[in-house]
Amino acid sequence: MAAAGTRPIVIVSNRGPVTFAVDDAAPDGVAARRGAGGLVSGLGPLVADTDAVWIAAAMSDGDRLVAERGVTRAEGYRVRLIDLDPDTFTDYYDRVCNEALWFVHHGLFDPVYEPAWPPGWVDGAWAAYRDVNRRFADAVIADAPEGAAVLVQDYHLCLLAPQVRAARPDLRLVHFSHTPFAPPAWLRMLPDEVRLDLLDGLRAHHACGFHSSRWERDYLDSCLDADRAPCATFVSPLAPDPDDLRATASSDAAATARSDLAAVVGDAAFVVRVDRIELSKNVRRGFQAFAALLEAEPDRRGTVVFGAFCYPSRLGVPAYDRYAKAVIAEVEAINARYGTDTWTPIHYDPTDDYPRSIAALQVADVVVVNPIRDGLNLVAKEAVLLSDRDAQLVLSPEAGAWEELGEAGVWEADPFDVGATARALADALDASADERARRASSLRAAVAARTPAHWLDEQLRAAEADPS
Ligand code: G6P
Repeated sequence: MAAAGTRPIVIVSNRGPVTFAVDDAAPDGVAARRGAGGLVSGLGPLVADTDAVWIAAAMSDGDRLVAERGVTRAEGYRVRLIDLDPDTFTDYYDRVCNEALWFVHHGLFDPVYEPAWPPGWVDGAWAAYRDVNRRFADAVIADAPEGAAVLVQDYHLCLLAPQVRAARPDLRLVHFSHTPFAPPAWLRMLPDEVRLDLLDGLRAHHACGFHSSRWERDYLDSCLDADRAPCATFVSPLAPDPDDLRATASSDAAATARSDLAAVVGDAAFVVRVDRIELSKNVRRGFQAFAALLEAEPDRRGTVVFGAFCYPSRLGVPAYDRYAKAVIAEVEAINARYGTDTWTPIHYDPTDDYPRSIAALQVADVVVVNPIRDGLNLVAKEAVLLSDRDAQLVLSPEAGAWEELGEAGVWEADPFDVGATARALADALDASADERARRASSLRAAVAARTPAHWLDEQLRAAEADPS
């Protein structure tokens, strides 16, 4: 058996580290750029400029051109993109991944009004999910080097392991959930066939990893409830790459963004959040808490600006589109009610601008992370490392990062209790300089205890753990 760390590495995820746009002026017909999203910012630096192969779905026309070329090197990555039929992809990604599985793991289903699984989905959308997993398995079987550790990421790809194990017994397979895992009562909202397929698919890995022991426990409970043997499990929270963050923070783009923000904020205190507009992130209640504070304490009006850098995502899912509209309506109502000629309470910016987000975290006085339920929340950790001002972190105990940071100086925000979140905001804003420094330094130590290298090392060790 190979020792941990000596195996070739294959990463498998729905969204790849690089995305391609058709560009007739480029020598090979495409222009590459770094892919969007938390998964890539977390995992990307681990395997950039190595021989690791990253297998992902083709999502743009440029990606589809690259898919025909097999394994391709771009932006420091060796990527292998899979061209999928657009209707199949929609069923797999929008319906199963983003509606059913994301909702079930984050507890977003309304059990009264919304059918968790509409009629026809087992033969339709679930068949598409199986099909896409088969295509990913085919790519792993064809392209994984002999003896590789195959690191499968997230809820999109729960079913490929049995097929890969049968065809390539030389490979070691680890599945990692970047989301929470549904406890039994929620997983039961899926049809039995789907629930058992998922658990059997996960079981076929050599190990399954989670960001927090809460999600690991929920997985184990769901296995017990379904009378299914669990996979070997491990807990391994991801961490930001400090060098990668520093490089962006010292870029010209971040410097420009900082001076733009200074013009917006002036002398006011700066509360910041950086999120996809995502139901589980609880953006709307965060604004409601801010409004509750302005209502209860009128003296605060004009003294604080809430910078919300919230960019739209997954608009193919009707519930996201509805939520994005509700969030914007909330911002408009709050700004109309409390704003003056010289002060806008919420500075709302929906552009997905990475250096600007990094700049906002550098200059924030308070950072709000109040999810309903969240696998980890890398932004919470990034905020701690980036702050120039001993930023205070208002954190929900439902974020996976709570396990590492909850005792290390955060201000607790119950995500369902708007009044409690408002009080946490007030306390964080009012903390003395000494207290701010004490909390920020304790948080920095907690975050700096881990780097992405720890995460990768733990995946590779987990790959060796189960001899079966
Ligand atoms: C976030 C989650 C990941 C998930 C990713 C997918 O980063 O933390 O668990 O894989 O979103 O996002 P996407 O935009 O590709 O649907």
